[in-house]
Amino acid sequence: DGTGTAVTGTGSSQDPRTAEGENARTLTTRQGHPLTNNQNLRTLGNRGPALLEQYAFLEKISHFDRERVPERVVHARGAGAHGVFEAYGKVGDQPIEKYTRAKLFNTAGKQTPVFVRFSTVGHGGHSPETLRDPRGFAVKFYTEDGNWDLVGNNLKVFFIRDAMKFPDLIHSQKPDPVTNRQSGERIFDFICNTPEAMHMVAFLFSPWGIPANYRQMQGSGVNTYKWVNQDGDAVLVKYHWEPLQGIKNLTAQEAEAIQAKNFNHATQDLFDNIKAGNFPEWELRVQIMSDDEHPELDFDPLDDTKIWPEDQFPHLPVGKMTLNRNPENYFAEVEQSAFGTGVLVDGLDFSDDKMLQGRTFSYSDTQRYRVGTNYLQLPINAPKKHVATNQRDGQMAYHVDSAPGQNNHINYEPSSLNGLKEAPRTAPEHMPAYSGRVVRQTLDRQNNFKQAGERYRLHEDWERDDLINNMVGALADADRKVSDKMVELCTNCDPDWGKRLAEGLAAARGGQQHEGGNQYNEGQQREASQQAEEV
Ligand code: HEM
Repeated sequence: DGTGTAVTGTGSSQDPRTAEGENARTLTTRQGHPLTNNQNLRTLGNRGPALLEQYAFLEKISHFDRERVPERVVHARGAGAHGVFEAYGKVGDQPIEKYTRAKLFNTAGKQTPVFVRFSTVGHGGHSPETLRDPRGFAVKFYTEDGNWDLVGNNLKVFFIRDAMKFPDLIHSQKPDPVTNRQSGERIFDFICNTPEAMHMVAFLFSPWGIPANYRQMQGSGVNTYKWVNQDGDAVLVKYHWEPLQGIKNLTAQEAEAIQAKNFNHATQDLFDNIKAGNFPEWELRVQIMSDDEHPELDFDPLDDTKIWPEDQFPHLPVGKMTLNRNPENYFAEVEQSAFGTGVLVDGLDFSDDKMLQGRTFSYSDTQRYRVGTNYLQLPINAPKKHVATNQRDGQMAYHVDSAPGQNNHINYEPSSLNGLKEAPRTAPEHMPAYSGRVVRQTLDRQNNFKQAGERYRLHEDWERDDLINNMVGALADADRKVSDKMVELCTNCDPDWGKRLAEGLAAARGGQQHEGGNQYNEGQQREASQQAEEV
């Protein structure tokens, strides 16, 4: 399928010629020079000094010096796998053509290859996989019409609803720029001034903030997209992945016990299960709404801090994904994979969700920096179909995207000299109509607390207990301005939530033992209690 090509070097660009005395496994430099001594520098006498002229050493060490590329600014820690998506050919029990002309969904049993990358969000490339964080769930579908990336998370909502706030949100969750440590005070300082984040808090600080592994968690597109049918008419859609292995989350204490022994448990779990033939599966389900503002709802359908109630907007199955093949090389496939919300195929479209629009700029922008200008020529990112562009050159240009028989002098369009031609349009474009003022304003129907309160009440007792414990742990050492405001916001969601948080904070500050969940401020708490003992 091409992904192995770059890894094993058995691709068509490889010339099978070997020099005298060589065979296919003879070690060479990248210039093809056979390497006769890979153990010793070339030196003046065996005690040195070393000579700078030795190309093989310079190539080896200079390449090593450049082995690391910048890690993803978010979602740096991840694991990936290949698999297949099989369409049901309908949406629920309705014909799918009514809503979308996307070809990957249209026929029962149609198979589309996929690559999936799961991740944590805020922490660095080799951080423990037991940390409290949303989990990324990014799927690349290599469809017959080109690639479709569904870049989602495990949780169904997000902290903010406007892309302008994203760098601030992430800065508050990344390590303190002075101490280089993550801090509960900084996280909640941002959150207590961002009331739309409360729904996310209700999930993230409960066991839902630590999925047991990547196989037993849900996925969600979170943002609102559109489906477009053969007539160019659109509906709003939300995507959800339901794990057929079930859902399993961890309390803070359970996670700490795993973390004490294993930093890589989720990566290991995914790899080992696939290797053993125990292939994880998810059903893809969609919620559909007509494409308008829905004034009858108490939230805006384009607000990604809200769930569309399932009783009004049922989850309709459209297909099933199975992950059945591990990567051959982590760096080539998982690290260099690049997903983006702008990567859609005919029949799928954006909505006006302003988070989604902001995201869509950010992904390919960072990938041109992180992986390089020609990142789409890498086998993991290239579509598994005909590609022909007039894009040329740039760092690491691997090949020319030309078509067979194309006049290679012509890297522009239009041309009468056998250049590339525009594709014929086979169905009308979706053409939404707009009229309005250009403004900088929030959505009207904010309703920041209702669904957060519902989530608090929907939690089982052990989940609510863990939520309170974890918030107390993160806030006990925080500035009172922050913790008082958090108590107020929780009270707005549900008075019981506010009361229990206030009681927990009073007890923790009064010196009572606090059980678990204090991963952010552990160091500070220890220091504080040591000082108290000394006094
Ligand atoms: C990764 C930006 C919101 C899911 C990333 C990356 C950036 C980014 C720059 C790194 C990409 C790379 O280096 O390849 C943003 C911005 C957002 C936003 C600007 C809001 C305005 C979200 C939301 C979700 C999400 C709401 C969940 C639906 C992901 C995932 C990845 C990711 C899963 C990792 C993809 C992978 O595995 O390579 N995001 N993001 N992001 N983002 Fe977002």
